[in-house]
Amino acid sequence: MIDPLYGELTKLREFRSSDGGTAFKVVGDDRVTTYLSFDSRTPEMAQKMIDDAIDRADAVPRTEYYLAITRLDEDELIGTCRIAFSGVKAAKLGYATAADHWKRGYTTDAVRTILTFAFERLELHRITAAIGPDNHASQAVVKRLGFTREGVLRDHVFTNGSWRDSVLYSLLRNEWLAN
Ligand SMILES: CC(C)(COP(=O)(O)OP(=O)(O)OC[C@H]1O[C@@H](n2cnc3c(N)ncnc32)[C@H](O)[C@@H]1OP(=O)(O)O)[C@@H](O)C(=O)NCCC(=O)NCCS
Repeated sequence: MIDPLYGELTKLREFRSSDGGTAFKVVGDDRVTTYLSFDSRTPEMAQKMIDDAIDRADAVPRTEYYLAITRLDEDELIGTCRIAFSGVKAAKLGYATAADHWKRGYTTDAVRTILTFAFERLELHRITAAIGPDNHASQAVVKRLGFTREGVLRDHVFTNGSWRDSVLYSLLRNEWLAN
């Protein structure tokens, strides 16, 4: 377990089991999940997602940092942000924020915070994000933070009843440190 990580607008903290209800506002909302790699979840599935993540946080070595996004002055989950280790000093990035909180800069701030943690404390080398071609908000987040578009992963995920391509973006440690 890590201490909370602070950005300018948001805080990232470890999940607690009581986050199930607010997590459902994120992963149970079609406005959010239409852009994710899974369909909307029930309240029970959202609770299990949180409880499973809490269990995985105890793994040694740790396989991911899957964290709650909250506003700075509050403790309530408004979104989630995750780096999942994959390969040598590499990780896959994912995030989602409750629709009521979109367009306020919260996600960009939270992702900047987890990238600082990943590159500067964990000393990772490469972080990737696979984003739906129509997901302009998410592509704006990674572009603003310096990611480079690598190409298209064809039929990368099966979601909402059909196969969907992803656009792959990456950021390397030396690029982050040079920013
Ligand atoms: C993608 C998502 C996390 C962005 O969250 P957010 O908190 O609104 O993001 P921010 O407020 O930090 O805005 C980030 C950028 O996206 C832009 N943006 C936000 N919503 C947008 C939209 N609907 N269309 C186009 N751009 C949009 C913002 O203007 C901002 O761009 P800028 O930095 O150039 O000003 C949120 O829309 C979301 O949860 N979507 C569903 C889940 C998802 O797509 N997750 C990522 C999967 S790869």
